Amino acid sequence: MESFHQKIEKNIGLLGFLTALVVSVGGLVQITPLFFQKSTTQPVEGMKPYSALRLTGRDIYIREGCVGCHSQMIRPFRAETERYGHYSVAGESVYDHPFLYGSKRTGPDLARVGGRYSDDWHRAHLHHPQDVVPESNMPSYPWLEKAPADATDIEAKMRALRKVGVPYTDADIAGAKKEVEGKTELEALIAYLQGLGTDLKDVR
Ligand code: HEC
Repeated sequence: MESFHQKIEKNIGLLGFLTALVVSVGGLVQITPLFFQKSTTQPVEGMKPYSALRLTGRDIYIREGCVGCHSQMIRPFRAETERYGHYSVAGESVYDHPFLYGSKRTGPDLARVGGRYSDDWHRAHLHHPQDVVPESNMPSYPWLEKAPADATDIEAKMRALRKVGVPYTDADIAGAKKEVEGKTELEALIAYLQGLGTDLKDVR
């Protein structure tokens, strides 16, 4: 007599179907509660959406591929929290579309880099990293200081983000162009970096 298990192992269609079933049920059990848990869907207390300038900087961060070398996700391990600060919590990234957690750390994690260095340090570092960190293998981004920040579609971007739940007010959107116009891409990127990880208060 063949056992039920032997039957499954010999029937590739049945094995595939049952595997898919187990994986789906297991996945749903893990993932579904996250959509209803406050700690994963609510912003951390007092957190504001990215200002127009920081949002512009974030898009430059994406365009330049910084996420390919830098994660933004501090894991709850001592080696990480001693180096980078309090581990990342879900409520800090509810306004992030898309998430920039990343998985490659050629450079350090940037989830809490905000306020760690001065604007001048970032300016020098992005212009030519080796000027401030001689052993660095980070590339230079000298064009950012010459390129004007693009304000043409900032309002549309903010309206789109509002559709997916980022609470921008009409006043935020109305003032967006003015905030970005006249700034360089470097200024926008630094504004973004200086805000990273600063929303979680009293725990750093
Ligand atoms: C090829 C990999 C690579 C890329 C791409 C890269 N970096 Fe880096 N980054 C590094 C390395 C390595 C370091 C550590 C040495 C240093 O400070 O320069 C670093 C350090 C940093 C630091 C200092 C972090 C700290 O805690 O000391 C910041 C801020 C930073 N990078 C921002 C950026 C930004 C913004 C971009 C995109 C414009 C970027 N990096 C692109 C590799 C990279």
